Amino acid sequence: MVWSGLTVGVTGGAGFIGSHLVDRLLSEGASVVVLDVCSSEKAAQVPDSARLVIGSIADPDARREALSDCDAIFHLAAIASVVLCEEDSELSASVNRQASLDLLAEAGISGVGAFVFASSAAIYGEPQHLPITESHPITPLATYGADKAAVDEAITTLGLEEVPATALRFFNVYGPGQDPSSPYSGVVSIFTQRASSGEGVTIFGDGLQTRDFVHVSDVVSAMMTAGESLLTHSTASPAHATPFNVCSGETVTLLDVVATLDAITQQPMDVTHAPARDGEIRDSFGDPSYLIETLDWTPEVTLEEGLRELLDQL
Ligand code: UD1
Repeated sequence: MVWSGLTVGVTGGAGFIGSHLVDRLLSEGASVVVLDVCSSEKAAQVPDSARLVIGSIADPDARREALSDCDAIFHLAAIASVVLCEEDSELSASVNRQASLDLLAEAGISGVGAFVFASSAAIYGEPQHLPITESHPITPLATYGADKAAVDEAITTLGLEEVPATALRFFNVYGPGQDPSSPYSGVVSIFTQRASSGEGVTIFGDGLQTRDFVHVSDVVSAMMTAGESLLTHSTASPAHATPFNVCSGETVTLLDVVATLDAITQQPMDVTHAPARDGEIRDSFGDPSYLIETLDWTPEVTLEEGLRELLDQL
């Protein structure tokens, strides 16, 4: 067991993806330290067996307190709202970019054995080819993507003498625990909640836009697999200084999502169409084959299974 007995830091460990990762690390026998700015409500949901340090990744003292003794670090903390990053680009620069770069540098100094960064498909911007592969140009459309790209690039240009690190480029992550009411709620969390309560949904645009929805348990497996490879092989790991798309490879339209929900609930939802969101990417889907071939990862949850599970829990 790679993780048993190790101390593992998870920034953003009280958030949607981070909380699933923390559960998995604990079940694998790791001692987990969570660094998160979380509310008291979120703090109460962090398992008692994890050590919680409440603070920002932009605070060097909080980083030191939480992460200085870690064998591995998963870095998920970020200002996750694309809109907020646009409105307050200084905040995004200090948290999403500078604090992440500082954290990476400190991980190198303290000799961390694996640093796994939550990058984003947002770094690709408007797709120039589909499906999107890791060699796609990095042309982010907005501040959020640009700041994620800066950290992604710092990792993918690391040398062999530096901290073993990888950048995982998440596509549209969904699954249990994703809050449908937050300003950056993913469409799946909104639509499943509405399907469950019998309310209608609003589709921005014609509904033929495509996305690549990847289940949070598959994202957690990708993080664990990449972390294991780095811990085992250090900078000789094929994951070191390498970016990977974390996506399902399943391309669906929003109308497909609604049709799948209708088929599961056997109750067609009322659909209203509104104008497409400004500046939105119409088609976004990734090619997961590099991660599949390099690290033997497999996405296991189909969108239909994932939607069924979500509806069962609501
Ligand atoms: C996602 C990320 C964003 C990231 C981008 C790039 C989320 C919530 N957003 O945006 O941070 O920058 O990928 O990879 O994960 N929609 C509706 N009705 C609704 C809500 C959404 O029609 O009530 C539509 C949107 O207009 C969009 C699609 O559903 O066409 C997906 O929306 P969303 O889940 O917000 O994700 P992205 O726009 O892909």
